[in-house]
Amino acid sequence: MRASEISHNVGGGKDIHKALQQEVDFDGERKISRHGVKQLRYPWSDGPAYVTQCPIQPGAKFTQRVIFSAEEGTLWWHAHNDWARTTVYGAIVIYPNMGTTYPFPKPDFEVPILLGEWWNVDIYELIRGFVATGAIPNPSDAFTINGQPGDLYPCSSAGTYKVNVKNRKTILLRIINAAMNVILWFSIKNHPITVVATDASYIKPFTRAYVLISPGQTIDALVHADQLPNCYYMAARAYSTSPSIPFDKTTTAILQYVGVHKNCSSISPSLPALPLYSDTNAALNFTNNLRSLDKQDYPLDIPLEVTRRIFSTVSLNSLPCGANRKCEGPNETRLAASMNNISFILPRIDVLEAYHYHIKGVFGTRFPDFPPLVFDFTAKYEPLILEIPRVSTQVKILDYNETVEIVLQGTNLVSGIDHPMHLHGQSFYVLGSGLGNFDEYKAPPTYNLVDPPLQNTVLVPINGWTTIRFRASNPGVWFMHCHIESHLTWGMDTVFIVKDGEEPEAQMLPPPPDMPPC
Ligand code: C2O
Ligand code: CU
Repeated sequence: MRASEISHNVGGGKDIHKALQQEVDFDGERKISRHGVKQLRYPWSDGPAYVTQCPIQPGAKFTQRVIFSAEEGTLWWHAHNDWARTTVYGAIVIYPNMGTTYPFPKPDFEVPILLGEWWNVDIYELIRGFVATGAIPNPSDAFTINGQPGDLYPCSSAGTYKVNVKNRKTILLRIINAAMNVILWFSIKNHPITVVATDASYIKPFTRAYVLISPGQTIDALVHADQLPNCYYMAARAYSTSPSIPFDKTTTAILQYVGVHKNCSSISPSLPALPLYSDTNAALNFTNNLRSLDKQDYPLDIPLEVTRRIFSTVSLNSLPCGANRKCEGPNETRLAASMNNISFILPRIDVLEAYHYHIKGVFGTRFPDFPPLVFDFTAKYEPLILEIPRVSTQVKILDYNETVEIVLQGTNLVSGIDHPMHLHGQSFYVLGSGLGNFDEYKAPPTYNLVDPPLQNTVLVPINGWTTIRFRASNPGVWFMHCHIESHLTWGMDTVFIVKDGEEPEAQMLPPPPDMPPC
């Protein structure tokens, strides 16, 4: 498939400079989303099915224009319809501008680490199954590192991914969590990890024995090969509070020092210690360290005034199964998910074209600023009005350059769990996060308005909240959704339409002539 070319051309070591506009051909039935690339004023190639385009039919062809603006660092691309991204994904590496370099000591070499998830069954069978029964999808059969499950699975240890490193060298790992439904811990035996960037934005370096990475997120990290020359395992395993996640599975790869002439897999090196699968404190302990690098060359632009405040619950819910049917969700219902109690349903014509061509009846503009009821969101039983969401295609319209603050509040409906929320088209500053109900008096004074991290995916902790802020400076149609794929499928999504500004440079570019037909 041609799509993989982007991984080789872009990730394989060629310089991609800022302001570069690159054309990439995509064939066939996928829509590819450049996760995190802003696509400034050009949502036409952003990718999510039925949000910014209709699917490219099998055998059809569509040329996506990938427009890089100020991005620098690690992003990625993936298919964005149904669950095709299970296998269709790759790294996008954007080097510093010509004549500039990293804000940290230059690494000797760089390695992309793509964490993934694998099912033995046909993925389309899997989705058809769980959508029809309303149940939780079957957990995956393996986690993978660069496509390989590693030595602990009863298969392919010959294929285990291996990094060869010379003694005393420094590696830049570009870690991407491309897994479908699982937040992951990642660590390397005896090698502390210094985190230097996340979501293509530099942060103040900090060193830990392990990282926590959400689906959708990227983490750049430095590792020094300063141990005794030997074989060392890298490993990733689930962080989750949900019983439906395979928490007992560990994927491994190998860091092997040059000159060590043995077959690492056969001597089974010992595993690095990782926090327990449900260790929320360890998770918060890690994510709370993310702080933007506020050096002169990397100025921050944190909106201090807010013109639009949104408080949105992110919930798992359940819906009636339908007449004469039995579903396999809780109490024979089917599982759903929502933001502000609206379970988003994809329209038949993509939102972008409906907006651009004024096609009526495709979407509503009533995504609410508040949930229908404010309650103790951490309580197990909540009022019925919050249990059953409204199934609808509601978007939020924003004026150009509005400054938006969104408090995302996790709830304990059906079950509390962490939600990695992702926004297309813009990165946002993460001002704060906490467990329990958001407190409108106590939380804002604790916000970090000095060096908040700039991210495109942020974890809303289990039964907790996270506050993000951004300036709506990218006119277009931008999907927001939980990057846990089952939650996306169930409707934990909405769409922001950022209107054109007055100046021509503040307006959406015209569509290409060959948008795939709906
Ligand atoms: Cu990684 Cu909607 O995207
Ligand atoms: Cu979620």
